[in-house]
Amino acid sequence: MDEIENIVILTGAGISAESGLATFRGPDGLWEGHHVEDVCTPEALARNADLVHRFYDERRAKLRDVAPNPAHQALAALDAQWPGELLVVTQNVDDLHERAGTKRLIHMHGELRSALCAACGMAAPWIDPLPPGVRCRRCGQSSLRPDIVFFGEMPYHMEAIDEALRRADLFVSIGTSGAVYPAAGFVQTARHAGARTLELNLEPSAGSLYFEQSRIGPASRLVPELVRELLV
Ligand code: APR
Repeated sequence: MDEIENIVILTGAGISAESGLATFRGPDGLWEGHHVEDVCTPEALARNADLVHRFYDERRAKLRDVAPNPAHQALAALDAQWPGELLVVTQNVDDLHERAGTKRLIHMHGELRSALCAACGMAAPWIDPLPPGVRCRRCGQSSLRPDIVFFGEMPYHMEAIDEALRRADLFVSIGTSGAVYPAAGFVQTARHAGARTLELNLEPSAGSLYFEQSRIGPASRLVPELVRELLV
């Protein structure tokens, strides 16, 4: 691919599926019979904090059993070697991109291994369970919650993402169903700004029609192939 300098890559649950983390909307995309929309909301946290904390404690603990796969590794190699601008924006709250070595990374939906104080706004690394009632080290209030962007909350770093999308020559979406905005709209922002658009996914997605090209297959094969094309 020639004449490409600036790249934005959006990743979703599909890039971590082959590492053993369940996607949200697949056949195994339920948790104890709950839709994610029912446990990942501010209302659910207020109504049933135990349930919400347990959901995230289990997912945080699961990170110990999984490792980056060839798709994460290929993106880390691209990040290390790409001479132009590059930004990986992930909707995932796992830490597999950073464990693979990607540095130019934004977690737009937050991170499992971080706790957020709802009272004072402090965010701190967190690897252990986070039961309701734990006190914030800064303000002393018992308002610590998972540092996750719930449905109905504003994703992180939207300004920086928007600026990168408007400068992008290439926008690539990997392993996301295109069901959740604002990430589902990034392809249109990038396209209006003149970027080429490419989707890599196991199956056609809700957003496929907005992409110039869709490649169908597992991320562990398609992402290393794309990175080889970009780095020739
Ligand atoms: N390789 C590539 N794509 C895959 C693979 C794979 N090995 N396995 C699954 N996929 C695809 C699925 O076909 C599906 O289209 O990944 C997509 C995953 O879609 P979702 O489960 O909806 O996950 P995602 O798009 O990341 O969800 C967006 O929704 O629940 C919220 O905040 C949560 O960040 C999440 C957001």
